[in-house]
Amino acid sequence: HGSGHFSNEPFTDFSLPENRLAMESAIAAVKTELGRSYPLWIGGKEAWSEERIVSINPAATSEIIGEVSKAGITQAEEAMQSALGAFQRWKKTPVADRAACLVRAAGLMRERKHTFSAWLVLESGKNWAEADADTAEAIDFLLYYAKEMLRLSSTNEHQPLIKLPGENNVLTYIPLGVGVVIPPWNFPLAICAGMAAAAIVAGNTILLKPASTTPIIAYQFYSLMVEAGMPADVIQYVPGSGAEIGDYLTSHPKTRFVTFTGSKEIGLRINKLAAETAPGQIWIKRVVAEMGGKDGIVVDETANLDAAADAIVASAFGFQGQKCSAGSRAIIVEDVYDKMVEKIVERTSVLTIGLPESNAPIGPVIDRASYKRILSYIEDGKSQGRLVAGGHAGPEGGYYIEPTVFADVDPAAPLMQEEIFGPVLAVAKAKDWREGIAIYNDTEFGLTGSFFSSDEGRIAEALQEMHCGNLYINRKCTGALVGVHPFGGFNMSGTDSKAGGHDYMLLFTQAKLTSRRE
Ligand code: SER
Repeated sequence: HGSGHFSNEPFTDFSLPENRLAMESAIAAVKTELGRSYPLWIGGKEAWSEERIVSINPAATSEIIGEVSKAGITQAEEAMQSALGAFQRWKKTPVADRAACLVRAAGLMRERKHTFSAWLVLESGKNWAEADADTAEAIDFLLYYAKEMLRLSSTNEHQPLIKLPGENNVLTYIPLGVGVVIPPWNFPLAICAGMAAAAIVAGNTILLKPASTTPIIAYQFYSLMVEAGMPADVIQYVPGSGAEIGDYLTSHPKTRFVTFTGSKEIGLRINKLAAETAPGQIWIKRVVAEMGGKDGIVVDETANLDAAADAIVASAFGFQGQKCSAGSRAIIVEDVYDKMVEKIVERTSVLTIGLPESNAPIGPVIDRASYKRILSYIEDGKSQGRLVAGGHAGPEGGYYIEPTVFADVDPAAPLMQEEIFGPVLAVAKAKDWREGIAIYNDTEFGLTGSFFSSDEGRIAEALQEMHCGNLYINRKCTGALVGVHPFGGFNMSGTDSKAGGHDYMLLFTQAKLTSRRE
């Protein structure tokens, strides 16, 4: 690994007894570390605050994962000043050294893969395969962005300039400055590591404000980077309230860019705040905002129906439907509609609910607010469609909700239009495949979509017509791989940043042309 060949970190095969054992012992080991208190890291030094954010296990809400210090405005300002100071040194650190740091971190993470996954299981409620994929993606991002920054810094490879006789012209990609990085809780390791790693390998310094439901896994990432040789003040680890320090830092005149993944509402708020020019501010802030989705799968009568049903159920209910890529809509042509609904219900009804640490297929949703919001969508949904699976809260003790399917939903109904971010699938009937595509496109979002068909002409039209950042044919709409499926969406899904693709590093750099007479 390093500057050479990139290949995706393989997923762990948990059907092998040795891998099961390794995962079980990692979970047991992490359990002995629960309940600790963690500091902020500002200017490379620990800082404590009176106020705390308590992180709990969403699957067993009495279990405390840990508590982190909560930064207020004073500490956010200190962190900003530290990041500004650190930037003056870090930007001069050779790209090769910055990249080497990411590569070392990836190596360490690979060695402790199941430990990272165990934290994900306990803090975010992912089952083993979901947690393992999150950790693998984090390793991929570290290696991929290291390699991408090295590629970008060998300028002639990236953008060969036309030779003008008598001049030596070079384009270099220099960092932006201090960025605010706000990752989501749904990929609390992969997206946290990806956004942070891309920003810092480019030479920026950052304030990392982790999601308040998953701050401990972000802490583990921060510690790993320091262990891998990153100067401790390149990242300021500052958990805190979005309304308080999130707004403060987004509006700060010294903030050069904000990188956010999360809800549409918060993404739009960040975009608006960042667009205002604070006194003393001398640049236009750059905003990278990856937001929600109302992703869907369209199935025509020529499709392999079993494969389509497998993909619909996997896309709808993987990690309880809490992926921005989740397929929360299925749009089926009327010829095969009843058959498909039956197949979807069959596959949904075997999904058992239970503890992520015991690797149950369906775990909890992230917190009480989500739990309540999703249950109220389900209640309201009962007048918008025919409930054919689930429809209730799950067992007590955690934020469990049954995987729920509504059939015969009107394309204009809230169930088909609003991002629920939970285990709720809406199924709609289309008279034919063209109407199916039209229903698919009838959304303000545009993140992922799938089209199931065996008809080449229809597939060709679907490829053109379905308007989303990640369009898949005859496969599920979740599980984008770094370097394979650059990821990001259109319209209200965000700025189409294409994480895990060649264009991503351009978002964290600015190009400088130098021209010298020979
Ligand atoms: N990249 C993830 C997926 O494709 C979502 O964030 O499922």
